[in-house]
Amino acid sequence: MRLQRDGHEVAVLLTGTRLLDDTGSPGGLVLFLEEVTHLLRVQRMEAWREVARRIAHEIKNPLTPIQLSAQRLRRRYAGQLRDGGAVFDECTRTIVQQVEELKALVNEFSTFARMPAGQHTPHDLNALVEEALVLFREGHRELDFVFTPEPDLPELELDREGVKRAVINVLDNAVAACAGRRTVAPGERGRVELRTTYVSRLGIVRLEIADNGDGMTAEVKARLFEPYFSTKREGTGLGLAIVSAIVADHNGFIRARDNLPRGSRFIMEFPVRQQAAQLAARARLGAYGA
Ligand SMILES: Nc1ncnc2c1ncn2[C@@H]1O[C@H](COP(=O)(O)OP(=O)(O)OP(=O)(O)O)[C@@H](O)[C@H]1O
Ligand SMILES: [Mg+2]
Repeated sequence: MRLQRDGHEVAVLLTGTRLLDDTGSPGGLVLFLEEVTHLLRVQRMEAWREVARRIAHEIKNPLTPIQLSAQRLRRRYAGQLRDGGAVFDECTRTIVQQVEELKALVNEFSTFARMPAGQHTPHDLNALVEEALVLFREGHRELDFVFTPEPDLPELELDREGVKRAVINVLDNAVAACAGRRTVAPGERGRVELRTTYVSRLGIVRLEIADNGDGMTAEVKARLFEPYFSTKREGTGLGLAIVSAIVADHNGFIRARDNLPRGSRFIMEFPVRQQAAQLAARARLGAYGA
């Protein structure tokens, strides 16, 4: 069953149990409503990854022999053929090139299928975000990037490369959203705001990335994290699927919301290890003489 909550569609599993009184006659009904949006997303993601794994496996093996054979033919006969030499050259070149493209496609598939594979070690999320941001600040001087790091951030067990990649993917989208704005007030610059917060009550660290682009329609919001969903001409639609897989690998959550007054906001939440949380709390209380 699908319901609307705060303007978002959520999937709900409804189960009911009939209550019987002592005499065995119906005494009422207990209905359970359980939100399973996240579960369905994870299931869809797993199904896609399985498909990607199989396709990658089936296609990859014959590619190298095809390419090597075409190259060998070129080496052996290219100089000898007089009639039809040009055709031979063009055909073998096409085979080699197309196989190269297929290989790139399959690699993309298998990267997605293998994701995420990184090691989890203690890291400072703020530093990681800064590292990713440097590239964007330099590459997009027409935009304002504003990062507000939480000063008391506990260390997180992170797959460093994975999380950096996730931040880059979300930033890529934010930049594209700013660049693609249809309605811009005079002098209004594209703006991407990043913020980390430590919610000690919930034992999580939150990373928010918000832009002032055109925002998302309800349809886009519902399908954002699906592999191969893209509204861009050149997009693969794997960006957010990869982000979502990386966040899930950290037992975290990601969600997308409207940014006010305009644009989109991506919110990633990572659980803090108990020990790290305690150390951070003690440091704040001055337990180490701070
Ligand atoms: N910040 C954003 N603002 C508006 N729409 C967004 C934003 N981020 C993502 N989207 C929408 O979600 C879609 C899926 O994003 P995703 O990153 O998965 O793929 P993509 O950006 O289209 O392609 P790729 O990441 O491979 O270049 C985008 O095509 C876009 O429609
Ligand atoms: Mg993208």
